[in-house]
Amino acid sequence: MMLSLVYASILLAAGSTASPCKLHSGNWTSSSTTVAKAALHRDGHGSAAVNQNQKLGTQANAGLNLPLPYSQESSAPSSTSASNAGPSVAASGSSGPSSGSGSSDTSGTSDTSASLTPASGSCPQGFLNTVFNTNAGQSSGFPTATSNTLTEYGINNWIGFSLDTLDKQADYDLSATQASQLSGAFNKAQIPIVMDHTYIQDAVGMLANNPPLYLELYNEPDFSFENLTLTEEPAPSASDLKTLLDTPHPNTKFISPALMDANGPWLGEFFQACNGCIDDFHAIALHVYNPDPQGVLDQITQLYGTWNKTIWITELSPATAGCDLNTTTMATYISTLIPEILKLGYVEKIFWNSGESDSTTINQAPAACSPSLTNSDGSFTPALQALGAACGINPGTATS
Ligand SMILES: *[C@@H]1O[C@H](CO)[C@@H](O)[C@H](O)[C@H]1NC(C)=O
Ligand SMILES: *[C@@H]1O[C@H](CO)[C@@H](O)[C@H](O)[C@H]1NC(C)=O
Ligand SMILES: *[C@@H]1O[C@H](CO)[C@@H](O)[C@H](O)[C@H]1NC(C)=O
Ligand SMILES: *[C@@H]1O[C@H](CO)[C@@H](O)[C@H](O)[C@H]1NC(C)=O
Repeated sequence: MMLSLVYASILLAAGSTASPCKLHSGNWTSSSTTVAKAALHRDGHGSAAVNQNQKLGTQANAGLNLPLPYSQESSAPSSTSASNAGPSVAASGSSGPSSGSGSSDTSGTSDTSASLTPASGSCPQGFLNTVFNTNAGQSSGFPTATSNTLTEYGINNWIGFSLDTLDKQADYDLSATQASQLSGAFNKAQIPIVMDHTYIQDAVGMLANNPPLYLELYNEPDFSFENLTLTEEPAPSASDLKTLLDTPHPNTKFISPALMDANGPWLGEFFQACNGCIDDFHAIALHVYNPDPQGVLDQITQLYGTWNKTIWITELSPATAGCDLNTTTMATYISTLIPEILKLGYVEKIFWNSGESDSTTINQAPAACSPSLTNSDGSFTPALQALGAACGINPGTATS
């Protein structure tokens, strides 16, 4: 673990001037275990990717000023980067495609995504979620105290960088005690990921034997963190994933590849190569790292404007190298951003990165800008308080 931390620090330090690179085919399996752990430590987010991510939002945000309220008209999607494989529509907050759909969920994870129109001061069931990175095992309160706290504050599901439950995932480095504490409810709240094409056959088995409610197909195929994660090109991805799309999955909804640069060309090329398989996906996933709420919203509205499709933000954080939020302004960021995302009407789920105690900062961000939802002992942080409060959930305060 020490090794992987040191290695990750070196990579993060080295990443400040690099730019995101698109490798033809990464070589995950030939990496040493240590390297693989470092890669997954923060979902492979080097500062390079995040700078890029932030830049996209900032550029789109040129000339717009906070504070909100956010004017949707002022940020009509430009649709400059995505190619032409799908509809381009005006982003409209009032009639997201997800209303009225997705209500037939029957398995254990409760999810009433039909009710995306936010009630005053509350969020739809299933909206708040989080991410557990591979350093989750360093938190003494993980998993029991951590998950109890998160649940108390309205966090529903979580994503780990794994198709397997975490006790079967060596990268998570859980102690025997921690692994033994992974309960049925905890495991059931996981939304598994087919990380790359090497997991497709396992996923076919999963659909047959133990179908999850949702299955995300690929994590950041458009970005390789310093060559440590497997980059997948759109056309081979379409051909590889056809196996899964063609597998009967009456109980499972597919989530699109979660892209680092969702408004870049990858998704358009993918949907073209798979002959319009966009209809096979319940939602399009994207990752957003941006300390500017308006920049976050711009990335989302552009994506919706291109694809007219329900959106999941499967990694959301302000953590970037240039972020200068402190505890106070972080709470403002959260209380500003969450209601505006809800107003859009088509963002079904957000996943705050991270849920575990943040023992290393994300993406060279200052510590205060890399806000975990829990402390190491599993107790809540101000960020979790703010997130819960944005959805009207205030445990520990006197409420009726
Ligand atoms: C990884 O690289 C080695 C050496 O170049 C090669 O033999 C192997 O086939 C590669 N594996 C994958 C999965 O690409
Ligand atoms: C967007 O999606 C909705 C719901 O699926 C559909 O009713 C509408 O016609 C779509 N709009 C365009 C421009 O494709
Ligand atoms: C990543 O791969 C590129 C191209 O092969 C290489 O130039 C670069 O040094 C690699 N970066 C790391 C950190 O290994
Ligand atoms: C946080 O940042 C804001 C804006 O820069 C500043 O006004 C405030 O004093 C800071 N608070 C703390 C506790 O540093």
